[in-house]
Amino acid sequence: MRPLTYTGSRILITGASSGLGVEFARRLAARGADLVLVARREERLRALADDIEAEHGVSAAVVAMDLAEPGAGAALRERLEAEGLRITGLVNNAGFGYSGALHHADADRTRAMVQLNVDTLVDLTCTFLDDLRSARSGAILVNIASLAAFQPNPGLAVYGATKAFVLNFSEALWEESRAAGLRVLALCPGPTSTEFFEVAGEAAGAGLPRMEAGEVVESALRALDRRHPPASVVPGALNTAASIATKRLLPTALVARTVGAMMRRGQGA
Ligand SMILES: NC(=O)c1ccc[n+]([C@@H]2O[C@H](COP(=O)([O-])OP(=O)(O)OC[C@H]3O[C@@H](n4cnc5c(N)ncnc54)[C@H](OP(=O)(O)O)[C@@H]3O)[C@@H](O)[C@H]2O)c1
Repeated sequence: MRPLTYTGSRILITGASSGLGVEFARRLAARGADLVLVARREERLRALADDIEAEHGVSAAVVAMDLAEPGAGAALRERLEAEGLRITGLVNNAGFGYSGALHHADADRTRAMVQLNVDTLVDLTCTFLDDLRSARSGAILVNIASLAAFQPNPGLAVYGATKAFVLNFSEALWEESRAAGLRVLALCPGPTSTEFFEVAGEAAGAGLPRMEAGEVVESALRALDRRHPPASVVPGALNTAASIATKRLLPTALVARTVGAMMRRGQGA
């Protein structure tokens, strides 16, 4: 693949009001990319955009939008076209988890999670794929999966399944997109210090050590810089070892029982 350059690119980042999204915004701007920042909390997006523009001299547009609403892709495209913005890169980062056994789960919240983590991610990808494939610089598609994608996740069953979808979907698109020069990457973080656990519940971390959001994002950007970028990246040696063990080495039933026990311990059950 030709070397990746961000100058002259415009990258749309969903979930840019917090956590990994903020780090993607800061680090891509530092590399020269113009940005479109999307999430629901507009004030946070505007403060970040002002900061980034002042610090890096790039442009950062803000779109406040609930991406868990069906039809988000078309609505977002309309907003961008109205402002004359065309994107060359997409970071599908917005997402949330929700811990607890499925038979106790709130059905509407579960549906909203599938809508945001899966439906909207696919919708945005389809909506902007032609633009990304024809981009001359900064042609990237980063989808945020999770370490949870590699294993069954009792206590986070639907969340884990949404991330397994994202990983599998991205790996297939990686191959479909290479000839067009579009780098597709599934980023699979383990527990990371963001607001994720305020939403998902502390039990979702299962007491495991957390990485810093900056380190996680940097590992994705380093992977994208490679001449032959991989289809996925798991940040951190411990997380990489865990992904190999749970996916390839250990029996699935053992992994399911162990993860379930860790989650129950986290929930104080
Ligand atoms: N932190 C971890 O341990 C971890 C591990 C593996 C994977 N991940 C994944 O990493 C991604 C980023 O999460 P994070 O850790 O950075 O968590 P976070 O700090 O909670 O950030 C989540 C972002 O998603 C946005 N978002 C949530 N619901 C939305 C909606 N309906 N419409 C638009 N935007 C919405 C939030 O913005 P608003 O609330 O302003 O809308 C926020 O900017 C997620 O896909 C998550 O599943 C996280």
